[in-house]
Amino acid sequence: MAILVTGGTGFIGSHTSVELVKAGYDIVLVDNYYNSSPKSLERIEELTGQPIKFYECDIRDKEGMSRIFEENKIEAVIHFAGLKAVGESCQKPMEYYDNNIGGTLALCEVMRKYNCKNIVFSSSATVYGMNNVSPLKEDMKTGGTTNPYGTTKYMIEIILEDIVKSDDEWNVTLLRYFNPIGAHKSGRIGENPNGIPNNLMPYITQVAIGKLKELSVFGDDYDTHDGTGVRDYIHVVDLAEGHVKAVDNILEGKKGVQVFNLGTGTGYSVLDIVKAFEKASGVKIPYKIAPRRPGDIATCYSDPSKAKAVLGWEAKRDINEMCEDSWRWQSQNPNGFED
Ligand code: NAD
Ligand code: WQD
Repeated sequence: MAILVTGGTGFIGSHTSVELVKAGYDIVLVDNYYNSSPKSLERIEELTGQPIKFYECDIRDKEGMSRIFEENKIEAVIHFAGLKAVGESCQKPMEYYDNNIGGTLALCEVMRKYNCKNIVFSSSATVYGMNNVSPLKEDMKTGGTTNPYGTTKYMIEIILEDIVKSDDEWNVTLLRYFNPIGAHKSGRIGENPNGIPNNLMPYITQVAIGKLKELSVFGDDYDTHDGTGVRDYIHVVDLAEGHVKAVDNILEGKKGVQVFNLGTGTGYSVLDIVKAFEKASGVKIPYKIAPRRPGDIATCYSDPSKAKAVLGWEAKRDINEMCEDSWRWQSQNPNGFED
């Protein structure tokens, strides 16, 4: 029996694959390499010390996906595959709805055909929208998303809930991630953004290696301790370990729909992160204050207590380790996987 990891060579998928093997699971990966590369697969094999079964396939390709289920006994799916750039989703909403929602529907159809009805889905803190006050809890009202990317996550949550309502053999775990950063300790796998990064940490690390001139801090007049935006940054390996616990939990038996925040419960501002990164790396990060970024909120952090109570999971790695590991990955791989 194996776990199928869609988007398995991406940032979070690659780290989760390594942790799944470490925990003793057999894994099968599928990815269309839209936002990752065969190098990532090689590195997963290097870190796990074993060949990894991989299919280059788009999850919307039902025939290709059926082949994976024919050739392997899949007992659960961790579903990472999707497009994730907030700004791009406003320019290309059709592509985002097609890939994220169309992809999930095609995947579920194939899963149903092969009677595999256990799925762990990559959701996001973005589903809490603009109006909830942090710390965010799983039972707060979702919706009110501000971009097509966020709306795909909100809609997929509803679709998966409806699937469970229609057929109670399904078990769905929705994991709402906060802000994943960091990288594997080895410096061999990490985040590899295309073009100029949108997210804070990859932007900072690219300033640190001299690829980008300076960081723009989007707003210093928020109602936070230093005026800059506060977020719940979580080490990607902690996140990966959360997925292992979620799979353990879903395979224990009947679960229905379960929802968990995966965050640390602590918020750091943009300037806190700049300082922490400078301390961890010894590199100065030049920055300027820029206007607020449309769609941003002042503060967003989790209440992660449900994941601790039910899954026995909590984040262990602190902000210093997150910065050290992000820096090791970036400095050892200045061009990501393209070297
Ligand atoms: P990523 O882009 O690094 O990984 C996604 C992987 O999916 C890539 O390797 C890409 O090639 C693949 N993929 C995309 N569309 C596909 C398709 N149709 N068929 C097959 N493969 C496809 O992103 P990530 O940061 O690892 O994110 C993984 C998941 O977690 C995504 O669903 C994302 O929306 C979600 N998420 C990410 C964050 C974050 O900040 N990184 C936060 C919350 C949720
Ligand atoms: C963090 C903070 C910015 C870049 C996004 C998605 C969310 C989830 C995680 C997938 C904010 C500030 C950033 C920069 C800055 N992804 N910032 N200068 O916006 O919290 O969340 O990624 O699901 O859905 O929306 O993350 O890293 O972009 O921003 O000042 O160059 O850093 O304003 O306060 P965000 P981020």
